[in-house]
Amino acid sequence: MAKYMKIASKTEIGPGEVKGFSMQSSPVLIANLNGRYYAMDSACPHAHAPLEDGIINGKTLKCPWHGSVFDLESGRCISGPAVMDQRVYNLKIENGIIQIEIPDAEK
Ligand code: FES
Repeated sequence: MAKYMKIASKTEIGPGEVKGFSMQSSPVLIANLNGRYYAMDSACPHAHAPLEDGIINGKTLKCPWHGSVFDLESGRCISGPAVMDQRVYNLKIENGIIQIEIPDAEK
């Protein structure tokens, strides 16, 4: 059975915002796209920029340092210089609290 970790209140992340949090050993970000929430690792795979400081455009997030673009839903790296995809997480919301599914390796 999947295990989830409470990360933040929905009200902390307004529409169009991205915020960084820590989940056990990994920094993660949560993005709110018009009331739909997405979670992925926040350290850019190119040179570890904090992607929560990036720019949202549609369902993508652009790295603030060198401009790599990632799909927030799938984590796919759409354009470089990064070449690796980002890990994304399942999440759920209960009583207004966003919870991220803990990957098997970290349970
Ligand atoms: S650190 Fe993100 S593209 Fe370089």
